[in-house]
Amino acid sequence: MQLKGTSILFALLLLTALFSVGNCFWPFSKRGRHPPKPAPPKEPQLSPVIFVPGDGGSQMEARLNKSGTPYFICEKTHDWYNLWLDLEQLVIPMVYCWIDNVKLYYDKVTRTTHNTPGVETRVPGWGDPSVVEWIDPTKNKAGAYFKDIANVLVDLGYERHKNIHGAPYDFRRAPNENQQFFIDMKQLVEDTYEANNQTPVTFITHSMGSPMTLVFLQEQTLEWKSQYVRRQISLAGAWAGSMKAVKVFAMGDDLDSFALSAKILREEQISHPSSAWLLPSPLFWKPSEVLASTPSRNYTMAQLEQFFNDIDYRTGWEMRKDTMRYTQNFSPPDVELHCLYGDGVSTVERLQYKKDTIAGETPKLIMGLGDGTVNQRSLRACQHWTGYTDSHITTLALQGVDHLGILANQDVLQYVRTVMQQP
Ligand SMILES: *[C@@H]1O[C@H](CO)[C@@H](O)[C@H](O)[C@H]1NC(C)=O
Ligand SMILES: *[C@@H]1O[C@H](CO)[C@@H](O)[C@H](O)[C@H]1NC(C)=O
Repeated sequence: MQLKGTSILFALLLLTALFSVGNCFWPFSKRGRHPPKPAPPKEPQLSPVIFVPGDGGSQMEARLNKSGTPYFICEKTHDWYNLWLDLEQLVIPMVYCWIDNVKLYYDKVTRTTHNTPGVETRVPGWGDPSVVEWIDPTKNKAGAYFKDIANVLVDLGYERHKNIHGAPYDFRRAPNENQQFFIDMKQLVEDTYEANNQTPVTFITHSMGSPMTLVFLQEQTLEWKSQYVRRQISLAGAWAGSMKAVKVFAMGDDLDSFALSAKILREEQISHPSSAWLLPSPLFWKPSEVLASTPSRNYTMAQLEQFFNDIDYRTGWEMRKDTMRYTQNFSPPDVELHCLYGDGVSTVERLQYKKDTIAGETPKLIMGLGDGTVNQRSLRACQHWTGYTDSHITTLALQGVDHLGILANQDVLQYVRTVMQQP
């Protein structure tokens, strides 16, 4: 799951100057007969923070009124309850009920997705930091997300809800089906700016939250951004997608948990248009690059469509086409950007099948470098904008830090502390 510059600083200084001049010389002040007290040293305004989470980084609730279920043990009706991410729902056999409630269906005609009939979902807590500090609302330690960074901010004098906010969203879907998120985000930024003495905001984004924020910023004018946005701090931004998404379509992902089965979770994971959006970007993977191989053929980047046909999931390719316009637009965010990412961690680079028929097969993973989830070239893609934007871009690679570990890494916390102390 960002950021900007000197003109804002200048405007702030100017405002501050006008304000103090007004105070000193206002002729009708009741205290006018006394020499004016020296003004207290001006507290630098803290830039309010909005957290933008990545794939799987928002809470989700469901309400059920289903006419049928995959198993008799599954509930047909239930009032609003926490669907994502409650580990108790992920054990066999309950996981089959869970998948039926969280998966999406693709409509080829409207090119949009919907839930299983009888399942309503909603993302709770718009603006609330706690829903992205903890993915699991019971605040189970395993569900900690932006919590450590929020605590660093509180140490600096920040206050939750006042100048720390969260921007959760339905991460199952890509930007094309998240249009309301971008509308709400603009409002949240403006409201937060006003509520904090007209102070421009800082986005702190993780993983898919970084390209989500990029899409948002690309849609705003330069004037709007220089007024309302101070900077973006991107952590492990999946700027140009990841081979991990190809792996998910091919074989699912066990979310690095021994208790979960990739094969079972695959059915749910491949139904997400966001997984298609996060496929490797053709701007950063050459057409001739081999993504998967069998004994008698290679699937190159240019042959990704054939790969989807051969794994018998044409829908994945259709969803890819729906999101390609976002992938193809790689114009800079035009705000001050701090691009932090982990590096040097083994990350899937290619799939190697033993047989020529690949549908339902589990390939061997050929590893390369990245942060364990996102490939190095995608994490580094933010460097591409240097020279294409007037806004400052800083990149910092952290050796051996993985995709989620970056959220609790001491060097990262110190970096955030230092940057956020600057007005
Ligand atoms: C559940 O669905 C049935 C028909 O599908 C409908 O008659 C009923 O009113 C619904 N219940 C609620 C609580 O929405
Ligand atoms: C697949 O690509 C590799 C290079 O990545 C090449 O060495 C190999 O000969 C190719 N295999 C086939 C069957 O084309």
